[in-house]
Amino acid sequence: GEMMSPNMGGIGAIQAADLPLMPPSAMPSGQPLSPLVQLANQSDQSAVFEADLEAKVVEMELAGGKKTEVWAYNGQLPGPQIVVNEGDTVRIRFKNSLSQPTTIHWHGLAVPEAQDGNPQDEVLPGQTRLYEFKIAENSAGTYWYHPHPHGLVAEQVYMGLAGSLIIKSKTDPFAHLQEQHWLISDLRLDQDGRIPPNTLSDWINGREGEFVLINAQLTPQISLNGNQRLRIWNATSARYFRLHLPNVEWIVVGTDGGLLEEPLSAGDELFLVPGQRLEVIPRISQNGTATLISRYYDRRKMMVREAPTTLTLAKVELTQTDVALPQRLRTFAALPPVAVKRTVVFRERMASGMNGDTAGMLQNMFLVNDQVFDMKRIDFEGKQGETEEWLLFNSSHMDHPFHIHGTQFELINRTLNGETRQEPYRAKRDILNLKPMEKALIRFVQTEKGLKMFHCHILEHETLGMMAMLQVK
Ligand code: C2O
Ligand code: CU
Ligand code: CU
Repeated sequence: GEMMSPNMGGIGAIQAADLPLMPPSAMPSGQPLSPLVQLANQSDQSAVFEADLEAKVVEMELAGGKKTEVWAYNGQLPGPQIVVNEGDTVRIRFKNSLSQPTTIHWHGLAVPEAQDGNPQDEVLPGQTRLYEFKIAENSAGTYWYHPHPHGLVAEQVYMGLAGSLIIKSKTDPFAHLQEQHWLISDLRLDQDGRIPPNTLSDWINGREGEFVLINAQLTPQISLNGNQRLRIWNATSARYFRLHLPNVEWIVVGTDGGLLEEPLSAGDELFLVPGQRLEVIPRISQNGTATLISRYYDRRKMMVREAPTTLTLAKVELTQTDVALPQRLRTFAALPPVAVKRTVVFRERMASGMNGDTAGMLQNMFLVNDQVFDMKRIDFEGKQGETEEWLLFNSSHMDHPFHIHGTQFELINRTLNGETRQEPYRAKRDILNLKPMEKALIRFVQTEKGLKMFHCHILEHETLGMMAMLQVK
């Protein structure tokens, strides 16, 4: 059954962990991979992208012949893919048809404060609003969008609200390649086909849905050749992936914020943490059928002892195709000299004993610089165009993926167990995993003024307030 507490704020119900779930075999699997559906551009002007998005409740038959209530953008799972060009003006007419407030956050993009879906700018149930912004030059890359209302992000995303966004460049060295998109999400269904609320363990460790899906499909059948650019999204709340596909060497050509300067081999394993994206060219050494798996990653969950498990994600038909990759993909301009240095510490505070006020404990547990998020508190003030250098420190017992809005940062070095490793290449990211007791030095510039949230991208932790704000003036 369910356990309720009078003062749960945004947390809502906490579901008992022993709820009977839908068995994985109840969902159809092995179907050919469907491409992500694109959001049609309704504008006939050049360099303008205009479309409608509606967050609404829909019923879908996902598994076991049961109807599932899903919250979805335009009724689609995943949300429709937005494809725009550098320099475009984007106008999204948004309608909130949910019964709770929401916003759309443009994850990874530099947009003006009022357009970024901040928790301060809620769209109330039944309301509409226009999101309007210009796509920055040199921002070609792989992004996504999802809700960001205070206290409701975890629920709205696990109910189905998330979509992908791609920015194209006129000077793309891979423009001649075919594209293939894998948006990885997960889903939990109870035996009646409902998406149940979070358990206590979900709130503490992050929710991992039992169905792990690519483009909303369970173990799809994929055809892959070496003449393709693969864009991969980790749109889960809390799953860590170590993707492995036999006979494939992953050549990473882009990170969250677009192309690297040079292609980089990741060997036989791609590490992808919640919120993160990669652009990859598969180097295939043998034709045949292979299984895409995710190896177990020990992210030190609390109070859970699970057996290490390997996930099966897809069946892949491999066709060897040799492509000569360009050696130079782009050149990053040097960042201006560092103007400000700050320290950001992720920490957990455990209450003694778990029998008291569970919701209260959860809402005071996940801290940034020893504080829980407060919408009215400005944590840092910075200046537009100035280079910020942040020392991130995970002073806790579990991994936390750091994310900051409005910019792409560069990782300079990481320190773990007293050993500092310089990052050997430059890359634009907006997500960086921190292992327990790991430190990382990052640098970035904010080009747009306004409030920039930074937080753990395990959505339960973000929802519980492991978040703070930089105000850019
Ligand atoms: Cu995906 Cu606050 O972000
Ligand atoms: Cu974001
Ligand atoms: Cu976290």
